[in-house]
Amino acid sequence: MSNNTKELEEIIEKLGTQLANNVYDTIKTLQFSLDLTERYYENSHSRYVGDLSAKMAKLLSLDEEDIFVIKTAGLLHDIGKIGFRDTALFKSPSEMTTREFKQYKLHVDIGREMLYNHRALQAVADVIYQHHENFDGTGFPEKLHKNQILLGARIINIVDFFHNAMHKSMNVSSIADISQKTNATDYLQETQRKFDNVIEYIEDQKNIRFDPELVHLFIKLVESERKKIEGYLVKRIHITNIKPGMIFADSYYSSSGLLIANKGEVVVNETLRALYRCVESNQIPQKLLMLADNSY
Ligand SMILES: [Fe+2]
Ligand SMILES: [Fe+2]
Repeated sequence: MSNNTKELEEIIEKLGTQLANNVYDTIKTLQFSLDLTERYYENSHSRYVGDLSAKMAKLLSLDEEDIFVIKTAGLLHDIGKIGFRDTALFKSPSEMTTREFKQYKLHVDIGREMLYNHRALQAVADVIYQHHENFDGTGFPEKLHKNQILLGARIINIVDFFHNAMHKSMNVSSIADISQKTNATDYLQETQRKFDNVIEYIEDQKNIRFDPELVHLFIKLVESERKKIEGYLVKRIHITNIKPGMIFADSYYSSSGLLIANKGEVVVNETLRALYRCVESNQIPQKLLMLADNSY
């Protein structure tokens, strides 16, 4: 390989990394703005939908690029709701007036328009545009059905419904709160009936609202997620002892109100780095409420 070719390859690689970082920074910035619309949830709706949709995509053995698109679309699926009035944020579509529902439906158009401005996010924008399409063609905005709907949008449709049904409330204190418990078993028991009802509804909506094959996979996934925390204890653990794989039993915010760690989310290195920065500047306590097994 000539020196010139090698240099050129190095430049391309550097530009590729810069572009990837740039896209990543854009997504983070958008995600923080989205948090503003999430005060009616007991934890971050968008982060949950992003994480669980990515898990579904991995179970389907999709390639890295598709997983990235689906995760990002999950994370930003409701970005078009920024600026919506409170009434449009807390009501479910069935409670809305015809006028409110018409307005609400626009969030998929707005979301697509916003992200189309960033060339690297156009595939994400397409998935977001379709996340309210139903398998039987009764959704919006295009009334697409079955495989006309992008796989990512079919996944997000289920995850979005599940998280809304389990964790959205006008009265957050009425929701069984994992951070108030001393062990995860109590939390699981208290939420079991609700969980069973939500799963039963999702099952019933196979071929109607949801893709039947994805329903099957999704139920297996959320059941195994719940099993994972059985027997876990809620503990206050010092930041230096928090390890990837543990689960946050509470949400943690920076002093300016940005969500750093999400209740129910598994610890990853990136979150840990952000937490360290906040602990060093005294924005959050050194000991955090975590779900962990007895070895900690
Ligand atoms: Fe939506
Ligand atoms: Fe949503």
